[in-house]
Amino acid sequence: MSERAPIGVLVSGTGTNLDALLQAARDPDFPARVALVVANRRSAHALDVALGWGVPAVALPQADFGGDATVRDREIHARFQDAGVRLVVCAGYDRILSDEFIDAYPDAILNVHPSLLPAFAGGMDAVERALARGVRVTGCTVQLLERGEADGGPIVLQAAVPVEMEDDVETLRRRIHEREWELLPRAVALWCTDRLQRDGNRIRVLPAPAPASV
Ligand code: GRF
Repeated sequence: MSERAPIGVLVSGTGTNLDALLQAARDPDFPARVALVVANRRSAHALDVALGWGVPAVALPQADFGGDATVRDREIHARFQDAGVRLVVCAGYDRILSDEFIDAYPDAILNVHPSLLPAFAGGMDAVERALARGVRVTGCTVQLLERGEADGGPIVLQAAVPVEMEDDVETLRRRIHEREWELLPRAVALWCTDRLQRDGNRIRVLPAPAPASV
């Protein structure tokens, strides 16, 4: 197969989505490989996940850059460039990226969010808010990240998750996570095989090319 696209993954937390991506990339036919993982805090468990898989990973806390997010993002960009990154994946990244960084990757930053956007956009408490609001169905979204409104970019894939009366934050988050682990690698594979076609705010998923006849 053709060369796999190098991707850069931004993380802040437990790293289960990163793990799902790395799991998917074990398949030699998966069209991407994780070239570099960057965390915004040294305590992020996702760094251990990366190291466990033998993938290069680094923590770049904002405090190391005089507290300036733009300067830190420049460093992330430089590291991603060195690693040949074509696609950036925010896999549980809890910082807003600078406009300068976003402009460096037009339509090339995927973000996963634990709700059916535009419901419960912004913030890190979408699961808590869905429960508190009493919705019957929530879910997860993979979207392209762009400037402006948080979580406002075009939607690539979504999956619905029913809310049960017995749910608490933990059980609901777990079921949403399980769908994210399917959706995020699928979105990455679609992006890396040029199967996402943007038309304004809508994204068309193109069919897989027919296998060449022999
Ligand atoms: C995910 O639920 C994602 O949607 C949100 O942060 C969470 C990260 O989980 N943005 P993990 O670190 O991948 O386990």
